[in-house]
Amino acid sequence: MEFELTREQELVRKMMREFTETQVKPIAAETDKTSTYPRETIEKLFDLGVMGMIVPEAYGGAGADDLAGAIAIEELSKQCASTGDIVATHNGLCCGPILQHGTEEQKKKYLPMLTTGHHVGAFALTEPNAGSDASKGQTEARLEGDHWVLNGSKIFITNGYVADVFVVFAMTDKSKGTKGISAFIVESSYPGFSVGKHEEKMGLHGSPTAEIVFTDCIVPKENLLGREGKGFSIAMQTLDGGRIGIAAQALGIAQGAMAEAMDFTKTRVQFGKPIDKFQNTQFVFADMYMGIQAGQLLTYKAAASKMAGKRFTVDAACAKLFCSELAMKTTVKALQMFGGYGYTRDYPIERMMRDAKITEIYEGTSEIQRVVISGNIL
Ligand code: CAA
Repeated sequence: MEFELTREQELVRKMMREFTETQVKPIAAETDKTSTYPRETIEKLFDLGVMGMIVPEAYGGAGADDLAGAIAIEELSKQCASTGDIVATHNGLCCGPILQHGTEEQKKKYLPMLTTGHHVGAFALTEPNAGSDASKGQTEARLEGDHWVLNGSKIFITNGYVADVFVVFAMTDKSKGTKGISAFIVESSYPGFSVGKHEEKMGLHGSPTAEIVFTDCIVPKENLLGREGKGFSIAMQTLDGGRIGIAAQALGIAQGAMAEAMDFTKTRVQFGKPIDKFQNTQFVFADMYMGIQAGQLLTYKAAASKMAGKRFTVDAACAKLFCSELAMKTTVKALQMFGGYGYTRDYPIERMMRDAKITEIYEGTSEIQRVVISGNIL
């Protein structure tokens, strides 16, 4: 068993830490306050090779491994979970399935667009009546000559109103249940594609979430991703990988919150001494530290299992479940240490707490992770 990171993974950590401190931290509060998509930061991340970093060099990517990809999201999310989310979605949920299931032609066309081409990617599975029960989507695709015609709508789509390339799931045969779902690569420029409602959310204000609408949307026949009827399995495999990204994001939020609380409690004097000198404070930090260590082990192990080509469904679900609950617990406890100050927008801790909540919901709620884990181990 090897607990050391490789030289490349360490370099990614160092590069992302510097980038986050200098480029992300200074604008994180403003991004949240104004609900602004951090376009310039994302452009810089394209230039750095972080957008699509897991894509092999042959298709324009950096050829980074999955653990390095998780570390990048962890570091970004220490200061801005919205930025972490945009990158995690682009890398894990759009580049990931094209890399894994795309034909050579699809990879040659779309992966360079999603790396050197600065096109943002998204993943469109969820519908109003198909959230946790992901197989019940109503969006339909029918083949007409040399193209597919898509009709329906998707909600809560991360990167929804900024993305250029979407991996979309639609029913191609309603009579076949999960085996009647297929996956497609859809460009936002295709006729019949439109963006609907922009969501106003509790947190992740910099991450653009929107409804996507397909009205007789014309998609070239060759944009079917994987085989017809394999869409549900492609969605599930993609989410297995995506959940490692959300675990890493949650881990970053927890670390960011703990660091803020450590700084604050060193200087906040009550009852004649800095409050980090009280054992109550110290014990809370001990528990936070232990949780973060455990979360890192679970997350890195899930990434290592994926890299080793093993089935990593349970590892990813354990990492996502543990780290998202850790992020929530850690931000709540960290905010408590700030007292009234923590409840104001003068400190980043209330933003971190709001941002943490979504990690228990998207890419499969905590309850769904328990369904996945128990279903696989029992
Ligand atoms: N890998 C590969 N195939 C898988 C799989 C996996 N991890 N999990 C299931 N499958 C396959 C099964 O093998 C089965 O295939 P066969 O019929 O050939 O055996 C098929 O899929 C159906 O499996 P189930 O019967 O287990 O499916 P189910 O309908 O009971 O659903 C579920 C299982 C785990 C509850 C699933 O629906 C699920 O994960 N739900 C949560 C969805 C989710 O995470 N949504 C998040 C949306 S994306 C997002 O949040 C990002 C954003 O942009 C905001």
